[in-house]
Amino acid sequence: MEEDAWKEKVFDSLSVPALILRPDRKIVSVNRNFEKKFGKRREEVAGRACHDFFYQSEVPCGVDFCPLSKVIEGRVGHTILRRVIGQKGKEAWEDRVFSPILDEDGSVRYIIESIRDVTKLKTLEKELEGVRAFMEKLVQSSTSGIIAANRRGRIVVINRAAEELTGYTMQQAQSGGINVKELYPPGQGRELMKLLRDDAYGGKGKLPCTRATLINAQGEEIPVELTAAIIYEGEREVGTMGIFNDLREKLAQEERMSRMLSRISQAEKMASLGQLAAGVAHEINNPLTGILLFSNLILEKLALEDPRRDEVKYIIDDANRCGEIVKNLLAYSRQTSQNKEIIHLNELLENSLSLIRDQRLFMNMKIVKDLSDKMMLVLADKNQMGQVVINLVMNAVDAMDRRGSLTFRTYRDKATRKAYLEIADTGSGIPKENLSRIFDPFFTTKAVGKGTGLGLSTVYGIVRDNGGNIWVKETSPEGTTFIVELPLYQVSDDEKAP
Ligand SMILES: Nc1ncnc2c1ncn2[C@@H]1O[C@H](COP(=O)(O)OP(=O)(O)O)[C@@H](O)[C@H]1O
Ligand SMILES: [Mg+2]
Repeated sequence: MEEDAWKEKVFDSLSVPALILRPDRKIVSVNRNFEKKFGKRREEVAGRACHDFFYQSEVPCGVDFCPLSKVIEGRVGHTILRRVIGQKGKEAWEDRVFSPILDEDGSVRYIIESIRDVTKLKTLEKELEGVRAFMEKLVQSSTSGIIAANRRGRIVVINRAAEELTGYTMQQAQSGGINVKELYPPGQGRELMKLLRDDAYGGKGKLPCTRATLINAQGEEIPVELTAAIIYEGEREVGTMGIFNDLREKLAQEERMSRMLSRISQAEKMASLGQLAAGVAHEINNPLTGILLFSNLILEKLALEDPRRDEVKYIIDDANRCGEIVKNLLAYSRQTSQNKEIIHLNELLENSLSLIRDQRLFMNMKIVKDLSDKMMLVLADKNQMGQVVINLVMNAVDAMDRRGSLTFRTYRDKATRKAYLEIADTGSGIPKENLSRIFDPFFTTKAVGKGTGLGLSTVYGIVRDNGGNIWVKETSPEGTTFIVELPLYQVSDDEKAP
């Protein structure tokens, strides 16, 4: 085969349109694919300047647009990507590759320019970018925290919800600052990774919904629910990802619920114990009246110097003590008559404190009063509530061994129409196992003769009788706080000033 014919064959068999240019930009020849693409025959194109052919321009294109002069000067190939408006006005993309053909002396003799249509690739790229942006939005707008890390545990994605949850930012992550290990308490991260790899637990590479603790940037522990997965590329692990949900609100809700339930069951227990107490009190009251009556009669009949007088007095004293207990039991079981009045909670408290006969009790204690100056009217029996405060104070004093601080706090919640009285001590606290029993009649941890175990049960009965509620707000070895809740008195319409 003759050399020129051979060259032409190679040129024609290029799968993309191509043309050969001279350094003066004149077209020497074009290949078959070029002819097809531009609908012009070789002879029609040869001899024309490229700028004339492509852009109908008499002057060469600028260097920013056409790299031809760079190819000629530098004697190296160049590629540019060019957006063109193709047939039917459609947008198209071309890759134009310029390759110099050098002379024996090293100067550029010809330039082959090939034109590759990359519109499909470009469209795909654009679509991919669209999908990528959409995925990004998807991840960002998720209300669950999403975090992904590479194989070494470096966080590479952290969405907005996760930023909020952890206090770390995407910027910190991008600067390579955070390792997933830092998100968990020591050891927990490794434990989770083990579960993640475990076949038996949600399948290999997957972690079904699991409770865990996150440590945020401030070092606080946050309870979360998380699902996680290993990200694979084929068989290869390339990273991990986790989806987190903050459990704080849910746990608080659960806690509130269980507290409410325990209060309800407490109320039920109290009600049945109350019936029992009332029955016992009535049964004892009658014989007690008899004992007191007849022992007083005996005392009257005994001569003043009679040595048996002392013994009868013991009977009377003890019978009186029984009488006190019965009275408490009746108060607890709400069998006593009431005398309610409208009174400010602060006044109710002051009145109660003044009832404490032995004020020396407070001598070694710090008394703090944190009383709200808001309007807090309640409808309550002053004497009964006095009993409540005295009992709570006595218990606090006992728990503190007479020294420490005792805080009284009053406040109201207008929304729920409740007034609150808190009595906080710095005493020894109530052990968890006793908490459900402290309001039971006769439950006491005090020595025989020191405690009757009727104090709190009486308090409970009275508070309920006044339409209120009482519970332990908190207790720990640092102290105990009791809360008494009473309904705020509501002025009915016709009582309101005109
Ligand atoms: N403020 C308090 N701090 C610690 N423990 C308390 C407090 N109040 C009550 N308790 C516990 O509850 C029990 C029951 O109290 P209560 O019914 O008043 O009976 P008592 O005072 O006669 O023992 C007490 O024995 C004590 O163990
Ligand atoms: Mg007591």
